[in-house]
Amino acid sequence: MLLDVSGLSIAYKGLEALHGVSLHIEEGELVSVIGANGAGKTTLLQSLIGWQQPSGGIVSFNGRDITGERSHIRARLGIRIVPEKARVFTRLTVHENLMMGAYGMSGRREKMAVRDSLRRLYSLFPVLERRSGQLASTLSGGEQQQLSIARACISAPKLLLVDEVSMGLMPILVDQVFELLAQLNREEGLTILLVEQNALASLKISHRAYVLETGDIVLEGEADRMLNDERIREAYLGI
Ligand SMILES: Nc1ncnc2c1ncn2[C@@H]1O[C@H](COP(=O)(O)OP(=O)(O)OP(=O)(O)O)[C@@H](O)[C@H]1O
Ligand SMILES: [Mg+2]
Repeated sequence: MLLDVSGLSIAYKGLEALHGVSLHIEEGELVSVIGANGAGKTTLLQSLIGWQQPSGGIVSFNGRDITGERSHIRARLGIRIVPEKARVFTRLTVHENLMMGAYGMSGRREKMAVRDSLRRLYSLFPVLERRSGQLASTLSGGEQQQLSIARACISAPKLLLVDEVSMGLMPILVDQVFELLAQLNREEGLTILLVEQNALASLKISHRAYVLETGDIVLEGEADRMLNDERIREAYLGI
């Protein structure tokens, strides 16, 4: 098991946002956590990268207890995040943004690995290669999301956490960005945890999913079964 979260609780000033959440991800899986506004999706991801300290529970990564580990250690272990609202550096070029994802990778072998990642990512995201010398501020919203994903992938992460990548994108772009994530999973073997309000788009590319409601996992299962589940169809797919 790559990630094992057990009974994770997170509180903001005594107010609990996650109430003992348990979930797991196997290596090579693409898993979604679906939830409405305020369900606790961002809180969950922030706790996984070490930006929020839990008030209870255990997080293990690759068999190692990382519950109290700081974020730079988690990054070194290969946990990376694509944060909410594609935070790209608008005054840097596309290429410079990508290289920010390789920050600290300075050894000879690491530099070679970065060059290799860059080549693969440019072929996967051709628009970024075409516009590599332009300022990131000139990219459209969907292209900025692609840049944000590619930047998180430059260091060849073991686990990619993706926070609501569909937010604010036109439906056609949502499908494009999700297809890229599916491709990263399929072709590069990248393990991905998506958190999403867009249940339909994320279930379509996921192997398994969890439903998070106000800090509790209320349902879990195979993604294609969830697409056909009455409760999911009513509450999340509007069917
Ligand atoms: N910094 C904070 N301080 C206090 N409460 C917070 C903080 N961040 C989040 N919360 C609360 O924790 C709960 C979960 O918020 P969170 O942002 O994790 O939800 P979310 O599922 O990511 O929502 P959205 O879909 O709107 O991004 C909410 O009730 C929110 O108000
Ligand atoms: Mg959020």
